[in-house]
Amino acid sequence: MARTFEGKVALITGGSSGIGKATALAFAAEGARVAIAARRAAESEAIVKQITSQGGEAIFVQTDITQAAQVERLVKTTVDKWGRLDCALNNAGIIGTPFVPTPTYSQETWDQVINVNLTGVFLSLKYEIPAMLASGGGAIVNMSSIAGQVGGWGGIAYYASKHGVIGCTKAAALENATKGIRVNAVCPAVIKTDMADQFVPGQEEKFLAAHPIGRFGETREVADAVLFLCSDKASFMTGIAMPVDGGLLAR
Ligand SMILES: NC(=O)c1ccc[n+]([C@@H]2O[C@H](COP(=O)([O-])OP(=O)(O)OC[C@H]3O[C@@H](n4cnc5c(N)ncnc54)[C@H](OP(=O)(O)O)[C@@H]3O)[C@@H](O)[C@H]2O)c1
Repeated sequence: MARTFEGKVALITGGSSGIGKATALAFAAEGARVAIAARRAAESEAIVKQITSQGGEAIFVQTDITQAAQVERLVKTTVDKWGRLDCALNNAGIIGTPFVPTPTYSQETWDQVINVNLTGVFLSLKYEIPAMLASGGGAIVNMSSIAGQVGGWGGIAYYASKHGVIGCTKAAALENATKGIRVNAVCPAVIKTDMADQFVPGQEEKFLAAHPIGRFGETREVADAVLFLCSDKASFMTGIAMPVDGGLLAR
């Protein structure tokens, strides 16, 4: 049976761990050739090896998502390798300092979080869109969060950046609506990753109580949503910010 992304090329930023890793593996399992972008080489090369050992194709392009020249090189390397770009998950992100109130939140952390989470998405879109137009169209998913839809206590830059990701998503979706490129965002609640390990420990009960479904999410559950939005099954969906949140935002 034909796999959903056979012959397609998918690019994942922040593909070295967590949600990005799960999405890279899911795309490869559905037949896509996968470019993984991140800073950590050993972790990323291990994922490339996992994909190629199962008969798939993947490359790692070491990339700091805040650096325009490196993001340009990432997209160029991918297109030089496989001749096209069809799908992208712009996922690279950091939490910053989660529970620090605004008067004591440092500008240094603000700049870091905005640079990675928001400028990184802008730069990814900037270079991916022309490559997709040259391939005849495509689908992009940007990584927002429930923190892109509601506020919370402390960690102002994270909320600002993830709200900004939804703004980028809507703007890019409208710019490209008639050009064959769909642009959507996903908004996960707590997903079990290294990032969640930075803010959940010690407060499991409080965070669990916020999830009506009664548990945290798995990385595979976000990957499934990303693959759906990148597939032809989502052909009439663009400019949306889709919760993957166990019901959290329904309250
Ligand atoms: N886990 C959750 O509960 C949750 C909920 C909602 C949204 N999210 C979002 O999901 C995304 C992935 O996070 P995760 O939970 O999977 O955590 P994670 O395992 O820590 O993944 C973060 C990824 O971002 C990459 N990254 C960070 N800074 C980078 C930079 N300057 N350049 C390139 N890559 C960079 C990391 O790779 P390197 O360190 O190798 O560069 C890593 O691959 C983030 O955008 C996060 O905000 C997570």
